[in-house]
This record gives sequence, C-alpha cells and structure tokens, in this order.
Amino acid sequence: MQTVQVNLGPSSYSLQITPGLLDDLQDLLPPAEGGVVITDEAVDALYGRSPAWDLTMHKIVIAPGEEEKNLQTAAAILDRMQKSGLTRHSIVVALGGGVVGDLAGFCASVYMRGIPYIQVPTTLLAQVDSAVGGKTGVNLPGGKNMVGSFYQPQGVFIDPRTLQTLPQRHFISGLAEVIKYGLAWDYAFFCYLQEHLSQLLALEEEILTEVIKRCCEIKAEVVAQDEKEHGVRKVLNCGHTIGHALEAVTFYKQYTHGEAVFVGLYLETRMAEGLGLIDSAQSQAILTLLGRTGAGLTLKEGLWTKLIRAMLADKKNRSGKISFMLPAGPGRVTEVLLIAEEVMELLETIATQ
Ligand SMILES: NC(=O)c1ccc[n+]([C@@H]2O[C@H](COP(=O)([O-])OP(=O)(O)OC[C@H]3O[C@@H](n4cnc5c(N)ncnc54)[C@H](O)[C@@H]3O)[C@@H](O)[C@H]2O)c1
Ligand SMILES: [Zn+2]
Repeated sequence: MQTVQVNLGPSSYSLQITPGLLDDLQDLLPPAEGGVVITDEAVDALYGRSPAWDLTMHKIVIAPGEEEKNLQTAAAILDRMQKSGLTRHSIVVALGGGVVGDLAGFCASVYMRGIPYIQVPTTLLAQVDSAVGGKTGVNLPGGKNMVGSFYQPQGVFIDPRTLQTLPQRHFISGLAEVIKYGLAWDYAFFCYLQEHLSQLLALEEEILTEVIKRCCEIKAEVVAQDEKEHGVRKVLNCGHTIGHALEAVTFYKQYTHGEAVFVGLYLETRMAEGLGLIDSAQSQAILTLLGRTGAGLTLKEGLWTKLIRAMLADKKNRSGKISFMLPAGPGRVTEVLLIAEEVMELLETIATQ
C-alpha cells in the first residue's frame, strides 16, 4: 500500500494507492449516516456492484461523457441526494473519471453548504490529477469549469487495477497530465518516464503504481503550497492554455481533455523554443516523449484564429495578454504573457516549419 498525505491544515487528507483496493473499499470508507455513490453508466457496469455500498448507500448513475458535466445534471444529482435523505453527516462517493469526480465534488460542496465526500478515481487522468487537490465544478455553455468550488475530499482511494479496463484512448489521454508533472516540476520524473514509458503503456502494475504515486506526491506538494492557485499551482497549467482553447473551439466533442492537453504541450514546447526559453535539444527531448505515447499532436489548419480568440477568454489572462506556462528548462516552466499578435506569429512559424 502506498500512501500520500495532502497537508492542508484542518482540510488535510490522505491518498491510498493500492492495486486491488476496490475489493476492500467497505473497510476504508469513513463512518457516515448513509450516503450516495455517484458514478457513470460505463463505470457502474464494471465496478458498481460492490458489497461495500450495496446495503448502505444509494446510487446515482449518470450518462458518461463531458456533456454531462453541467448545471442541469448537478441539479438532478442534488435533487436525488435530497430525496435519498442525505444529511450533513452522510457521505458522497465519487466513483469514476474526472467528469464524475468534478460533478460529485461540486454537488457535495454545495449540498447543505457542504457534506463530506471521497474520491475513488478510475481513469488515469483522475488518479494522477483531478481527484487530488479539491477543484470541483461544471461547465457553462460558454466555457469550461466556469462554475465550481475549491472543496477538498476526506480521502482519495486509488486502485490502479481499474485502469486495466480503461479504453486505450482514455489511458493515453491521462498520460498528458503525467508528462506535465515531469515538465513542470520534476526533471528526474521526466527521465523516469523516458526510461519506463513502454512498461507504462503495457500497464505493468509496479510501474503504473509508482507513476501514479509520484504524480500524486507532486500534486499534493503543489496544492499544499498553493491551494487556491494564486501562485505556484499555476505551473500545472502548462499545455492547458492551448489545450482548453482547443477543447472550446471543438465544442468538447472532438478531443478528450488529455488529447487537447497533448496538442497544447506540443505547441507550447515549440513556442518555448521559438522564444528561446529552451534550446532545440531540450525541445526535442520533450517532443520525442510526447510522440512516443502515440497521442495525436498536430492541429488541423484553419483552427489557429479560432484558437487565439478562445485563448483571449482564458481565466488566467491579465491586461489583455494571454498567459502561458512554457517549458523553461529541465523540470521547470515559466509564465509568459503574450498579446494575440505575438501568439499568432509564433504559431504561424511553427505551422510552416
Ligand atoms: N478537478 C481537477 O483538478 C481536474 C483536473 C484535470 C481534469 N479535470 C476534468 O476531468 C475531466 C476528464 O476526466 P477523464 O479524462 O477521467 O474523463 P471521464 O470522466 O469522461 O472518463 C473517460 C471515460 O472513461 C470511462 N471510464 C472511467 N473509468 C473507467 C474504467 N476504469 N474502465 C472503463 N471505462 C472507464 C468513463 O465512463 C468515460 O466514458 C474533464 O472534465 C476535466 O476538466 C479536472
Ligand atoms: Zn488537465
């Protein structure tokens, strides 16, 4: 069993990472006056029939997919929570990927002004990123994660074995966030990924568990320093300025979050090279690792202008400039603010090279 602590004073909690953990979840759940498991149809079919909650918990099953991460679904969940008789002493269990985690966390944070919840993430992306750190929320038609809260779970229980059933497309998507930690925080981890990527892609349990643990440690360290993203937590947005814009201009339908972040990491690395923040050898090392995952990295022509328009609406912008977290050395990113014309020029140069 691997344990990682998230130190946030009275809101501290621990993450447990153990292959096979889901079988014993019943013993791990904190005592509560009943509760609800929130999951999606695909995860329910695979992991929804656990004796851990069959007797004591209600279950709310939503349709899978990013389209469900909206206020209407949140309202329906909250309604069901009330009809199930949940009190402030009940518990919400988020069983699923980032969509379920963000939605369930959001509902837990506003129901009766906040009731306890735990995360049981079942996608790579959720295990290394979204289940840790307390960002919850839903999308508005006009933008992603526009409504939400910072609300920490009581615990996070990670079973890497659940990734054996995850479709490959979603496993690869999660690798974008994994590589992000190596780029933004820990060069030794970047080198570890270079060395062990094939084993990771083959879902070797030991490597998988180690990688998840290291990502959780980094996320925990960053969040403990800056829970509400006023400073250092921003480094984890590398690849995301372009990634979020790409998701928006394709209406969250064409790319998964991780796939969009892959394109973001690729283009932002090339922008960093264009600006002289990293040399071509450093850039090449990053691009090679991204390419070895098998993820798509290129962008259809014609999307550039739309992309920049979308980036101008990014929450992180300041004084009309677009904020990027660009690679700036081994295991390091730096914030660069650019006007739209500068971004266009850089991207056009990349497109023609
Ligand atoms: N809160 C945060 O800090 C944070 C960070 C990063 C991303 N996110 C959010 O996370 C969401 C993306 O999460 P995601 O990539 O996990 O997507 P997801 O939740 O949509 O899951 C992907 C698909 O995999 C299926 N699935 C989940 N676990 C499975 C398993 N073990 N076996 C088989 N199928 C399984 C799901 O049903 C779904 O169809 C986005 O909304 C993104 O904004 C949040
Ligand atoms: Zn992300």
